[in-house]
Amino acid sequence: MRVLRCGMIGFGMIFEDTYRPVFERRHHDPLHSSATGPVSIQLCAVASRTGARSAKYLGSEYGQRRPFTNYSGANASRTLLTSDVDVVCIATPDDRHFVAARDAILARKHVLIEKPSVLSLTELDELSRLATENGVLAKVVYHKLADPDHKKLRTLYQDDVLQHVNNGYCSLLEPKSISGGQFAEWIAGRNPATYVAVHYLKLIDFTFGPNWSLDRVLATGQRGLVGPVDGPTWDSVQLQVVYRHPDSREAAFDIHTSWVTPDNFPGYVEQEVQFRFDNAVWCAHQRKRGVELTVENRTPGELKNTPNYHYNGTFLEPWGERSQRGYGIEVIERFFLEVANVEFGGPDASRNERLALMRALTYNDITADRNCVAIVQSLEAILARAVAGESGCVVKVNGSAGGLALYEPGNATPLILYEGRV
Ligand SMILES: NC(=O)c1ccc[n+]([C@@H]2O[C@H](COP(=O)([O-])OP(=O)(O)OC[C@H]3O[C@@H](n4cnc5c(N)ncnc54)[C@H](O)[C@@H]3O)[C@@H](O)[C@H]2O)c1
Repeated sequence: MRVLRCGMIGFGMIFEDTYRPVFERRHHDPLHSSATGPVSIQLCAVASRTGARSAKYLGSEYGQRRPFTNYSGANASRTLLTSDVDVVCIATPDDRHFVAARDAILARKHVLIEKPSVLSLTELDELSRLATENGVLAKVVYHKLADPDHKKLRTLYQDDVLQHVNNGYCSLLEPKSISGGQFAEWIAGRNPATYVAVHYLKLIDFTFGPNWSLDRVLATGQRGLVGPVDGPTWDSVQLQVVYRHPDSREAAFDIHTSWVTPDNFPGYVEQEVQFRFDNAVWCAHQRKRGVELTVENRTPGELKNTPNYHYNGTFLEPWGERSQRGYGIEVIERFFLEVANVEFGGPDASRNERLALMRALTYNDITADRNCVAIVQSLEAILARAVAGESGCVVKVNGSAGGLALYEPGNATPLILYEGRV
């Protein structure tokens, strides 16, 4: 049977949620397409800061059955890249994605990066160029695009049932345990919008694009809980992005994010959206999809009151088998199918054609992540200016001054964040 040998850089919360179930199942129950036949997906190497979590996993029943090489410390990622893995998945904190991805691509590994891909367009340009030069895929995980409700939203928009989006809001609120515990090691100087608003930035950009252009980015937020009130670490952020349709009408979206919601909030993560069109309104709530559950002494901590089993759930299937599945897992399996298609989907002579076809998939290819990265870069620059005492900045996209031009209130001379066209 054909095999894709995989390396994992970063072995934290998202590995546990979505990668672990893929590797545990797809090693012995391979992915399959008519072009490739069965392909086994095997976790062969892991790199992380301390190696503690992966060592514990190696001691588990699954880890003992399917051991991998466990690298830790400052050079862990580099060492992993010298091993014979075909694919590298990067799930480190977001400001550490670029170096790991660049080195992996240079080592000619296919790469899957957790969102947000990278934090600047210059970094994105470099990864895109290197992926082309080295003949590998470089992709980003945006699982919300695989949510059936979001697939339907996009289908209705592309089919012109929902006409001309005008504005909308999205909110994604994470509990305090994320900022205070889970991410405490790397949270200094960071903000919740870069980490989670990107889910909705991509949903908006992919669903309602590509025939529009990003026009400007604004942001503000609050500090004082996770870090000092005048420091660089943000509790919550309100981001506004404005697009322009080809008919010159504007569309504006407000995205509110936080990682200081109470830990006993019924759903743990709170997510809702509303999009308004010329002829329609779409309202959706991630966890209020019909299930409401109360179990003495177990909700809302261990079990959730309003769970979203569509993203990721463990099930006893009607046919008797235990499973873990959902769109958070499906989207990672799709990436492996794309890699398998490039490597095993036909003769070697047409590998480049298959590579080009897989790179043309705009839902996950980094070359299609320009608007999201532009917004993240702008957001980070606006927040940095606020920390320096200059609140209320706006970034104009593809204006006369350059690709990304940051304007401070009362100052006509912009700071150029990115010269080229976004
Ligand atoms: N798709 C999603 O819904 C989703 C959810 C959560 C997190 N994420 C993304 O996944 C990434 C990781 O998040 P997480 O929640 O798993 O974080 P985490 O803090 O739980 O884990 C981070 C891991 O990265 C490792 N690490 C840190 N620096 C490293 C380095 N320089 N080299 C190698 N390993 C290093 C740590 O040892 C740890 O194993 C982030 O980009 C985040 O945005 C995505």
